[in-house]
Amino acid sequence: MKIAPSVLAADFINLKSEMEKVKTADFIHLDIMDGHFVPNISYGPDVVKFLKKVSDVPFDVRLMISHPLKYLDTFKDTADVISFHIECEDDTDEVIDKIISMGKKPAVALKPGTPVEEVYKYCHKLYMVLVMTVEPGFGGQSFMAEQMEKVKKLKEKFPSLLVEADGGINAKTAPVCKAAGLDIAVAGTAVFRAEDPAAAIENLR
Ligand code: DX5
Repeated sequence: MKIAPSVLAADFINLKSEMEKVKTADFIHLDIMDGHFVPNISYGPDVVKFLKKVSDVPFDVRLMISHPLKYLDTFKDTADVISFHIECEDDTDEVIDKIISMGKKPAVALKPGTPVEEVYKYCHKLYMVLVMTVEPGFGGQSFMAEQMEKVKKLKEKFPSLLVEADGGINAKTAPVCKAAGLDIAVAGTAVFRAEDPAAAIENLR
């Protein structure tokens, strides 16, 4: 299982050294929140540009924003994967097609309350589907194990599609994710709040 540490849980006073600590990660997960789609504001594209200067790890940018179409271009020089929420206010096909036209890998994220079937019709053109295992907006929440049913359904129906999960993934819940066939696990608290983030990444894998 690949690991994507979420910068949301990092020490923002020491971001450069924090990125050094997770240089063995498979992706860096960047939670962009607009305070409208989710009840929290995190950080924006300018912070991501600085982070890109101090990391060689692929960037998995996740837009928890109501209008991703408006902001996609601000990540053109930093993102490798761009995910957005199917529940946002823009047209899903339009956002996916724009991400593809930018030469980025498109992904769609599902809130816990959204049935997995809603994403099926887009999967043929997606790199990845992100299954939220907490309500989006904040780190440090508890893992919602029932969301693994979505992972199993996606892996069964679309074997070549990557599936990522995000929220409450740690040493205890990572085995549940792996057993469900998860490809990429996002972990913020479990990595950045660990004594040894590199060891935490290896342990989660
Ligand atoms: C919620 C955020 C968190 C974060 C990881 O929108 O996306 O899930 O990335 O949180 P923890 O600290 O639970 O790994």
